[in-house]
Amino acid sequence: MRSLLFFHLFFFFSLLYPLSSTAQLYKLTTGLGSKLLSHPKPLKNPSPTRFFEVTKPVKVPKTKPCSSLVLQHDFASTYGKPPVIVPYSPPSHCPSQNFSKIVLEWTATCKGRQFDRIFGVWLDGVELLRSCTAEPKATGIVWTVEKDITRYSSLLLKSQTSQTQTLAVYMGNIVDETYTGVYHVNLSFHFYPADDSNLLKSGYGSRPDLILPISRNLPLNDGLWFEIQNQTHVEGKEFIIPKNAYRAVLEVYVSFHENDEFWYLNPPNDYIDVNNLTGSIPGNSAFREVLVSLDGELVGAVWPFTVIHTGGVNPLLWRPISAIGSFNLPSYDIEITPFLGNLLDGKSHGLGFSVTNALNVWFIDANLHLWLDNKSKRTQGKLLGHNSKSSSSISTSSMEGLNASFLIHSTRSISSRGWVKSSHGKMTTKTTQDFNFMNKMDISKNGNLQIVNQRIQVTNDLHTTLPSSSTYVVKSTKTFPLYLYYDIINQGNGSFVAKSKIKLGFNEKRSKKLGSTSSKIALKNLQKGRGNMHVEGNLVTNGTAATSQVYEYVDPKGCYFRNVSSSNGTILYDEASNSCTIRSSKDKGST
Ligand SMILES: *[C@@H]1O[C@H](CO)[C@@H](O)[C@H](O)[C@H]1NC(C)=O
Ligand SMILES: *[C@@H]1O[C@H](CO)[C@@H](O)[C@H](O)[C@H]1NC(C)=O
Ligand SMILES: *[C@@H]1O[C@H](CO)[C@@H](O)[C@H](O)[C@H]1NC(C)=O
Ligand SMILES: *[C@@H]1O[C@H](CO)[C@@H](O)[C@H](O)[C@H]1NC(C)=O
Ligand SMILES: *[C@@H]1O[C@H](CO)[C@@H](O)[C@H](O)[C@H]1NC(C)=O
Ligand SMILES: *[C@@H]1O[C@H](CO)[C@@H](O)[C@H](O)[C@H]1NC(C)=O
Ligand SMILES: *[C@@H]1O[C@H](CO)[C@@H](O)[C@H](O)[C@H]1NC(C)=O
Ligand SMILES: *[C@@H]1O[C@H](CO)[C@@H](O)[C@H](O)[C@H]1NC(C)=O
Ligand SMILES: *[C@@H]1O[C@H](CO)[C@@H](O)[C@H](O)[C@H]1NC(C)=O
Ligand SMILES: *[C@@H]1O[C@H](CO)[C@@H](O)[C@H](O)[C@H]1NC(C)=O
Repeated sequence: MRSLLFFHLFFFFSLLYPLSSTAQLYKLTTGLGSKLLSHPKPLKNPSPTRFFEVTKPVKVPKTKPCSSLVLQHDFASTYGKPPVIVPYSPPSHCPSQNFSKIVLEWTATCKGRQFDRIFGVWLDGVELLRSCTAEPKATGIVWTVEKDITRYSSLLLKSQTSQTQTLAVYMGNIVDETYTGVYHVNLSFHFYPADDSNLLKSGYGSRPDLILPISRNLPLNDGLWFEIQNQTHVEGKEFIIPKNAYRAVLEVYVSFHENDEFWYLNPPNDYIDVNNLTGSIPGNSAFREVLVSLDGELVGAVWPFTVIHTGGVNPLLWRPISAIGSFNLPSYDIEITPFLGNLLDGKSHGLGFSVTNALNVWFIDANLHLWLDNKSKRTQGKLLGHNSKSSSSISTSSMEGLNASFLIHSTRSISSRGWVKSSHGKMTTKTTQDFNFMNKMDISKNGNLQIVNQRIQVTNDLHTTLPSSSTYVVKSTKTFPLYLYYDIINQGNGSFVAKSKIKLGFNEKRSKKLGSTSSKIALKNLQKGRGNMHVEGNLVTNGTAATSQVYEYVDPKGCYFRNVSSSNGTILYDEASNSCTIRSSKDKGST
């Protein structure tokens, strides 16, 4: 009998759960995305455990927010059903209408046994939040996600269409005798009145005036996201923009599931063919990129951060400290202002999404943020230049049976330049995206041990010459390091112990310069974890896990530092500080 890692990694769930025709259930075949068997021991007055993702708190003014509970719902058997829909009206009841901050708050409780479920929140088709649920315990859990949604204020504060707006939430949950967890959810919006002159402003570099949804239209079943199923599959939408736009930014939301939930662990198809593993493990190698096209032409890309869902690798790692990005998945901005000249004709244009090497399934949609010239009905523009080049190489340094080593290097660069003339004057924009990717994968112990080292680096440059002939320059560099070690020790009878080690980082440096004023933001966010789990049938029966995380953020207005660690589900230490001195003294020596 061959003993392979992949048999466990990708197959032990299929025994219990019959594969349904519905897309999201493929996920259950992915052993790395497991869930914990919690024995429902009735405790006296058990208090729910609070799970959390480490992130800086949303900075809000000192004013009292005007809050509305926009949705209260229990998500039980919602899989493959239409999203939950409620009408939404702007907060006209609030005493002050001058807001400076808007915060979304998601609070949920759950008790019993349940998988991690992806979900999305949309207002009039514009996605406000993509997130993953926490996996519950028998004694119950609670978690809260707070997200600054001020950038969506044009949509939240006034009805863009003058009809009632529709808030939609989709979470595909399944409840039966084994998977008992029902997610009880409250969704609120908090509107903070401005405390000084800090009002919401529109204008270049500030909030957009209009946001168009590039997502699937209601009514439908499942989420409003497009589902990309393979590498040739393109999905997208037609849209028309007002003829007086002078800036456009496309915000892309991305999540990957089922055969591509752990795309960075997928070996190339060659390995699968040589070892007769067809159909039993996902392949197509460990490189993916989301490509965005406008009227068929490539205008930008997303090389996504490797979000690990709360059941991923070893679910014990993520309780109570959830993986980076899991409760608030990052979205990715692509500046498409240089292309406005092609879009201002009042006609319909098309945005399309595809994923290089994709396996089933990627959930992708986008919001088109537009800035409008309020003094003229018509702006003009012209695309001056557009360039894209890419390279990708995969080398196999060894392949002997199920032992193998692979190395992938990929790069891409996309740049564009164009001008737009509005009542403010003529403005020329140059934008560049530079991508760099490395994935080193070693498979040994006849397929039972897999070690992956990966690094993604993305630099976005925006250079705008404003009508005043001053310049607006934004440069952002994000680096996503990932190390994953996954070792299987077979125990016979289909049960096994999996030992895992992980390092997951999200780092960002951003600088902004308007004329002679400049500001800088830096984030370093690193999680380290190690764990063992014993798996029988399809369930984690017991195990241990330790996770630690250091989060360091600095911007011109202050700092946020957090140093937290958990072991076997209990917090060992948790230090939080707003002091920049602590941050800088501890900064020394780290890379
Ligand atoms: C604040 O809002 C009120 C209406 O609620 C408006 O009359 C007033 O002009 C606003 N103030 C500012 C500074 O915009
Ligand atoms: C939701 O809000 C209701 C009413 O305020 C409250 O009774 C309930 O406990 C809340 N549920 C959650 C999950 O926060
Ligand atoms: C037009 O927008 C500018 C900001 O870009 C704002 O200062 C001005 O008040 C607006 N004018 C009108 C008529 O809305
Ligand atoms: C890719 O997916 C699309 C949409 O499901 C399908 O029509 C097409 O046949 C698939 N292509 C391949 C090569 O599987
Ligand atoms: C793969 O299957 C073919 C045909 O069944 C067989 O000839 C070959 O030996 C197998 N290769 C391996 C590596 O098991
Ligand atoms: C694969 O590597 C293991 C050690 O990790 C070794 O024992 C085994 O013989 C190797 N198998 C092959 C086919 O080379
Ligand atoms: C292995 O599984 C079989 C069938 O489920 C069972 O009869 C047997 O007792 C198990 N053996 C061990 C060592 O658990
Ligand atoms: C699971 O429990 C068994 C029996 O108590 C123990 O021998 C084993 O080491 C545990 N496994 C893990 C991964 O903690
Ligand atoms: C985090 O706290 C632990 C325990 O107090 C300490 O050993 C470690 O040095 C701290 N790390 C940082 C970066 O401050
Ligand atoms: C977690 O469990 C492991 C294995 O039982 C043990 O070695 C470790 O000390 C535990 N950690 C804590 C903080 O209790």
